[in-house]
Amino acid sequence: MTAVIIDGKGFAERLRGRIGTLAAQFEEQAGRKAGLAVVLVGEDPASQVYVRGKHRATVGAGMESFEHRLAADTSQADLLALVERLNADDAVDGILVQLPLPDHLDEQAVIAAIAPEKDVDGFHVINAGRLATGGTGFVPCTPYGCIMLLRDRLGDLSGMDAVVIGRSNIVGKPMAQLLLGENCTVTIAHSRTKDLPAVVGRADIVVAAVGRPEMVKGEWLKDGATVIDVGINRVAASEEGKTRLVGDVDFGGASERAGAITPVPGGVGPMTIAVLLRNTLVSAFRREGLELDESAL
Ligand code: GUN
Repeated sequence: MTAVIIDGKGFAERLRGRIGTLAAQFEEQAGRKAGLAVVLVGEDPASQVYVRGKHRATVGAGMESFEHRLAADTSQADLLALVERLNADDAVDGILVQLPLPDHLDEQAVIAAIAPEKDVDGFHVINAGRLATGGTGFVPCTPYGCIMLLRDRLGDLSGMDAVVIGRSNIVGKPMAQLLLGENCTVTIAHSRTKDLPAVVGRADIVVAAVGRPEMVKGEWLKDGATVIDVGINRVAASEEGKTRLVGDVDFGGASERAGAITPVPGGVGPMTIAVLLRNTLVSAFRREGLELDESAL
């Protein structure tokens, strides 16, 4: 079997188009643009690339982007004071503090300081709790993007066997909750899982989010499985001095076995920013008490 390539980039572009239309509608009704504040502490190169991408996409969708770049030695108190200011700022509908933070800062305390109704990352314990208990909070962007791609590809996911490899708070755990919400039978695998190939081999849906280049092998997969590769790993290319991006799945091997697979790059990555814009717009409509047909997103 040669797998269908799941075009996350194209899906995300179409989603951003719909968001742009609704952002214009919001501006007309509210008399202001929806606003996203992004906080970057320090100069981590990967984080700088992500933050630039978020800024561009936010402005491109017709929303306001408030960027706050702080020095690497910013104190916890100063960062918390900025979060408090953003919580109180009516022009700000969404707040995102780019992770990871420098080591001297307490990530959990910073996330806890973000007003849950502006937590468009869905990282606050209140939003994590709502996801776990079936409420309507904000859902972390990457897992939600994966669910959108899965629903688009497979339709109803009820009864399917799903394996999530990785148990991070940002991807693995919320991903498992979302798949459970779709009535999948969910297994969460991790570094201590015994016989990972056997666990993966039973799955109709495999979500790989471990951060280890090409760890999941094609021969592990059940024939026709749908594979969502969340990994973005930079590795040395065959040409000297060059690098390339690979996922957590051995794409070549997997595409001979899977029914469908997301590529890296161009699969899950573009969905993350699109869902961030979606969450920001949902927040803006909610905060202004305006009606939004969320199914249009
Ligand atoms: N760092 C890597 N991914 C993310 C994300 O989705 N949100 C935030 N805030 N930081 C990240």
